[in-house]
Amino acid sequence: MSDQKTWDAVDGYFTEALVPEQTEFQKALDASEASDLPAISVSANVGKFLQLLARMIGARKVLEVGTLGGYSTLWFASALPADGKVVTLEFEPLHAEVARGNFREAGYADRIEVRVGPALDSFPGVEADGIGPFDLAFIDADKKNNPGYFEWALKLVRPGGLILIDNVVRDGRVLDAATRDVNVQGVRKVIDMIAKEPRVDATALQLVGIKGYDGLAICLVKE
Ligand code: SAH
Ligand code: DHB
Ligand code: MG
Repeated sequence: MSDQKTWDAVDGYFTEALVPEQTEFQKALDASEASDLPAISVSANVGKFLQLLARMIGARKVLEVGTLGGYSTLWFASALPADGKVVTLEFEPLHAEVARGNFREAGYADRIEVRVGPALDSFPGVEADGIGPFDLAFIDADKKNNPGYFEWALKLVRPGGLILIDNVVRDGRVLDAATRDVNVQGVRKVIDMIAKEPRVDATALQLVGIKGYDGLAICLVKE
């Protein structure tokens, strides 16, 4: 029973039963596909989980690293009050353009700001503009830069806030300490940083579903 076909079917079952918002956000996935963006957005069930986490902590401001077509961004935006804000950082101008179209189409454009460029170059401006502190940071871009993204998230997320890191399992490749894959190295490095970081309490969860076998790290910034 633990094969991809079953994971797909169970994801479908829970999504249909419990995630009505998916219908509303499907348009963003369709537009992303039409523009040939890679199909690597979070699944609907994980998107809803992200939305619920943001709501559980009463988030008003979210910082996202890695926008793609803005599917996860929309889940966060839907968690916020009308005066809330998502700042999302994206390297690829085409991804940012598709995402902005999706935000307008979904009626969330006023709550979302996309900053285009390598994320590590965008953080100083986000800090200087005084938009934060943020209640939640979602790190989901190039995995090799996870350590730098985590450092910035620690700087910009308030005590009591959350730092989430996507794709920390990757079919179990995270176990390979001798890997020459810089993305796996970036995951292992950030897990090591989290382990040693006194300012956070954390865990990481393995996830299966329509995106296969992967996982999410969850850090609570201590009060
Ligand atoms: N969060 C999205 C998926 C993001 S996919 C969702 O779940 O819907 C990863 C994105 O990170 C891609 O759009 C990619 O272009 C972007 N990316 C890659 N390197 C980056 C960098 N250095 N800075 C900012 N974004 C980057
Ligand atoms: C990839 C990136 C992601 O953020 C993801 O959730 C899945 C896959 C990738 O780069 O392959
Ligand atoms: Mg991801």
